[in-house]
Amino acid sequence: MEPDATVAAVDAQALESEARSAIAGARTLDELDEARVRFLGRKSELKQALRAVRDRESGMTLNAARERIEEAVALKEEELRRAELERALSEERVDVTFPGDDLHIGTLHPTTLTRRVIEDAFLGLGYEVLDDREVETVEYNFDKLAFPPAHPTRSPRDTFFLDDRRLLRTETSPSQIHVMEAKPPPIYMVSIGRVYRRDEITPTRFPVFHQFEGLAVDREITLADLKGTLLHVMRALYGEQRQVRFRTHFFPFTEPSIEPDVSCPICDMQGCRTCKYTGWVEMGGAGMVDPQVFRNVGLDPEEWTGFAFGCGIERSAQLRHGISEIRPFWDNDLRVLRQF
Ligand code: DAH
Repeated sequence: MEPDATVAAVDAQALESEARSAIAGARTLDELDEARVRFLGRKSELKQALRAVRDRESGMTLNAARERIEEAVALKEEELRRAELERALSEERVDVTFPGDDLHIGTLHPTTLTRRVIEDAFLGLGYEVLDDREVETVEYNFDKLAFPPAHPTRSPRDTFFLDDRRLLRTETSPSQIHVMEAKPPPIYMVSIGRVYRRDEITPTRFPVFHQFEGLAVDREITLADLKGTLLHVMRALYGEQRQVRFRTHFFPFTEPSIEPDVSCPICDMQGCRTCKYTGWVEMGGAGMVDPQVFRNVGLDPEEWTGFAFGCGIERSAQLRHGISEIRPFWDNDLRVLRQF
């Protein structure tokens, strides 16, 4: 085809008005780009005509049309970008005053919280904190702790036996034996963990619960040391105002044996249901390590003295947080647990 014929075939005006209406009709930047390629692209009619043009006048006409179309594209592009920005600003607006999503940060179980207070109190006294086995033997749970052969808790009615010889520990006291057998005195340790008893489930009893068991073995340890230690721990748990008193009691592995009471942290001794209107709350058992227990682990009771104590952790948590029942500690109801 002759070049002149091509130029003649292109009606610059018609092309321009076709391009303008395509540009004006573009609703998106993509549609605009399509129009730009169609009318200004390398293979467009206009570009082909420009490449083929030979006379100055046709060249100027075509170039002027190209410039105006380019300008129209640029204007339309700006218009579409502005509209897009306005749409984004109104649709994607962030209201920074709007309440955020609830993050549901977990909380620690009240048993864990209390356990940590106990651990901190004993670490501060220089005690070693340990976590002992839950499956015990009759020998360690009863025999070496000097339980008499006919003691009622040796019965399968009270205790979960796994077989004739093994059971789920009924108390943390077997830790005393393990520690004394494992290393020579001086010993200052507290053992924390779960214990198991064949109890019916009631609001205040559950067949599994936690205890903390303390043991101190050294030379010339007295009951006054035991009292001072318990006072320190009770104050760490329930506040600086607490008092501790002792009632005599009996445990197979301590002599003398005592039961420590703490002045009621709920009513501050004014009298309430928790302290049964006595002003005092029972905290567990304690006493001076029985000479027979020392002999059972190969320690000379003439040389070594010691004290021991054991208390329930749920009990302590109940008093710390004013919870009247033990069951919620094991229900794992998030509505309850989230409060701590
Ligand atoms: N083991 C006892 C119980 O579960 C509590 C106890 C009493 C622990 C006297 C002791 C202690 O260490 O010396 O009832």
